[in-house]
Amino acid sequence: MDSFDKVFRGTAFSSKSPKEVNIFKDYLFCLDAEGKIQRSVSPQEKVYQEILDAYTGESNFFVLEEGQYFLPGFIDLHIHAPQWAQAGLAMAIPLEDWLDAYTFPLEAKFSDLSFAREIYEDLVATLLANGTTTALYFATVHKEASYLLAQICAEKGQRGLVGKVVMDHTEECPAYYRDKDTQKALDDTEAFILSVQELNKITKQGVYPVITPRFIPSCTEEALAGLGKLAEKYDAYIQSHCSESDWEHAFVKERLHKHDAFALNDFGLLRDKAVMAHCTFLADEDVALFAETGTAIAHCPISNVFFSNGILPLARFKAKGVDIGLGTDISGGFSPSLLDNVKQAVISSRMLEEGVDATLPAEERGVPDSRITINEAFYFATAGGGESLSLPIGRIEEGYCWDVQVIDIKTPGSKLRLFGRNVNLEEVLQKILYLSTPENIRAVWVQGEKVHARPR
Ligand code: GUN
Ligand code: FE
Repeated sequence: MDSFDKVFRGTAFSSKSPKEVNIFKDYLFCLDAEGKIQRSVSPQEKVYQEILDAYTGESNFFVLEEGQYFLPGFIDLHIHAPQWAQAGLAMAIPLEDWLDAYTFPLEAKFSDLSFAREIYEDLVATLLANGTTTALYFATVHKEASYLLAQICAEKGQRGLVGKVVMDHTEECPAYYRDKDTQKALDDTEAFILSVQELNKITKQGVYPVITPRFIPSCTEEALAGLGKLAEKYDAYIQSHCSESDWEHAFVKERLHKHDAFALNDFGLLRDKAVMAHCTFLADEDVALFAETGTAIAHCPISNVFFSNGILPLARFKAKGVDIGLGTDISGGFSPSLLDNVKQAVISSRMLEEGVDATLPAEERGVPDSRITINEAFYFATAGGGESLSLPIGRIEEGYCWDVQVIDIKTPGSKLRLFGRNVNLEEVLQKILYLSTPENIRAVWVQGEKVHARPR
């Protein structure tokens, strides 16, 4: 028998495919020193008892109590860390006004590192308490404050992918909040990449730099082309917003005479390691380009209700072979919880299918085959996010990182009571996904390290 760094015993839920969930009942999950699952052992295997005999009672053996379950940690594929300070505010105005009146003034304040620290520390702790083990963050234009966010992720044990935002277009960005000039934007991005790569070397779970043109309207073409070159040079992650709203989609078409997707691709910004937020207005040829280049979509269902003028045809785009995960889009979305977005993804997909105006004749209402199930939404929040980032995360399987949340359905006051009903494990997962709250998340682990615990 191999020796293991840690051994966990309990029942786990993990997506097998978009529609199917694996249930590993009373398994042993045995970790290597790197924090990855080296062996996943069912009770039917002979070695199960041998491992139990060797590890029971040891300090590196962890057993779930009755009513507790392992779920993969959530992967937030799109979140603006500085906007945590205004989450829940200013939800009633259009995107273009919201950016000018609220968002840019707030983000400008992150030149002050002590202000940045207060918000970033609170946000990373909040996300961990909500079960988010990996997050793909937009920071601000400031190189130093962006690095601070990466440092805070490193310290708190979250897997953070962090971007210094580029916005250098003098006519589109306010003088008080933009890169000083195009060359400085590129130089700062390169310096940021190098510093975060150094930081990554001393973290167990990984922190990664992300090339982050805010969106096409806020960037010059020279900046976009330069960022494409940097992406190639460093094989770095890329993130941006793509075809988000009527206004944004039309703006790019007017300026560059093509859709966002083709423009981004021409600048070298659609790649396997690229994640584009929203994408609500992608045409069929844009979707094909995403599939061909391996570019992923960060679906932000709460934010889309407020800022996107439409519902992403999630089921249709997934069927065309595009990687898709979920994002909170704080503060375009008001909630830091990916679980809230899991529920909204299902609800929005149902509204797309059923149609929104019931006074129309049935055949004129919705879009057939648009609905997704709760199991599919769970997949997008976990395995889909991992596939989008090309990292071994989002599943509880051999070779994957031990990024998990321990859900306790017996938390006092919890909505997850079963009332003596003899529900099966598939139904337990449905209850967890629709009704659990952060109070039910007893512990969170990233790469084999405990990063959050909530006393009973
Ligand atoms: N497009 C450009 N910037 C932003 C932002 O901060 N939030 C959202 N939702 N869309 C954007
Ligand atoms: Fe966004």
